[in-house]
Amino acid sequence: MAQEVRAVIAPGKGEPVRVDTVVVPDPGPGEAVVRIQACGVCHTDLHYRQGAINDDFPFLLGHEAAGVVETVGDGVTEVAPGDFVILNWRAVCGRCRACLRGRPWYCFDTHNAKQKMTLKDGTELSPALGIGAFAEKTLVAAGQCTKVDPAVSASVAGLLGCGVMAGIGAALNTGNVGRGDSVAVIGCGGVGDAAVVGSRLAGAARIIAVDIDDRKLATASAMGATHTVNSRDRDAVEAIRELTGGNGADVVIDAVGRPETYKQAFYARDLAGTVVLVGVPSPEMTLELPLLDVFGRGGALKSSWYGDCLPSRDFPMLIDLHLQGRLDLGAFVTETIALDEVEAAFARMSEGDVLRSVVVL
Ligand SMILES: NC(=O)c1ccc[n+]([C@@H]2O[C@H](COP(=O)([O-])OP(=O)(O)OC[C@H]3O[C@@H](n4cnc5c(N)ncnc54)[C@H](O)[C@@H]3O)[C@@H](O)[C@H]2O)c1
Ligand SMILES: [Zn+2]
Ligand SMILES: [Zn+2]
Repeated sequence: MAQEVRAVIAPGKGEPVRVDTVVVPDPGPGEAVVRIQACGVCHTDLHYRQGAINDDFPFLLGHEAAGVVETVGDGVTEVAPGDFVILNWRAVCGRCRACLRGRPWYCFDTHNAKQKMTLKDGTELSPALGIGAFAEKTLVAAGQCTKVDPAVSASVAGLLGCGVMAGIGAALNTGNVGRGDSVAVIGCGGVGDAAVVGSRLAGAARIIAVDIDDRKLATASAMGATHTVNSRDRDAVEAIRELTGGNGADVVIDAVGRPETYKQAFYARDLAGTVVLVGVPSPEMTLELPLLDVFGRGGALKSSWYGDCLPSRDFPMLIDLHLQGRLDLGAFVTETIALDEVEAAFARMSEGDVLRSVVVL
């Protein structure tokens, strides 16, 4: 029988979010209902609330979550009731042209639950990134559930469901950071700091954190940045070049996603270096660069969708590293909050007061 749960809804463009009752159907074929234990507040949720992703309001927000599978629909074999899972927004299809070429981390046909969750009056909801996990329970495609070691706490496990995976993957998977590389990370929120942590895991020799907020730079240092640059006080490109023998960094990761930060990343990279765009721009943003510079500087300009992660490969591996004490996921959790505190958490995020607020249910 369909269940009624409490969940966070973004009703309209720029309007504050509110807790409302949501109807969660029983799982159909290939679907699962997951009891959410924790869900992080990501900047992308705020992008949804502001109408910067699309206009499919009302949204059911939240997508960085971990919980326990409650029920599964017909034909589900990958997970079973009672499994502890991290929700992912890349349920690999196995059949699209990316999957068939052996690049499932790009899967072009990832799927979500087919049935819709609704408000009590029947209004259909658009779950953020096909998840919608600021909710006591949510309905997803079974492939969106990745089983991990239940020894980890849900509030840190959930972070791998989006921002932290995106940042670590931007460094490890997209940027292909290697031992001895120099890396600069522009924007040190949850995603940027995860890129710092990923670069450190990869053995980068120099990790330069760039932000406009000194508090963020202090956290980035604690997470492994070897140098910091406040780009409000200094020219980021000059500072990064100075810290890399005048050359620029091998890999520059833009974890803000604005034309000005992208340009900084473009020019702060060494010849034949790599730019990774992991911050998400809004629709009105455009970029102008001399084409000769694009050619002349060589290298690679890449975007990182979800850290180019393969959840089945990356989530259990990163949870293992965390449990072994080699990856401190707990350092990303600034505060745990209740479901009705998401709007306040957006304000604190915008003020730069938090790395991650995590809703614990
Ligand atoms: N590619 C993906 O798959 C993916 C996944 C998750 C999040 N994201 C995106 O990553 C971005 C960062 O997310 P977050 O959760 O870390 O956000 P956040 O708000 O926690 O962090 C943003 C950081 O950027 C800094 N910043 C802002 N403007 C700056 C500027 N001009 N120069 C330098 N630093 C600046 C802020 O001070 C803050 O520390 C967002 O755009 C989010 O939507 C992308
Ligand atoms: Zn596919
Ligand atoms: Zn996110």
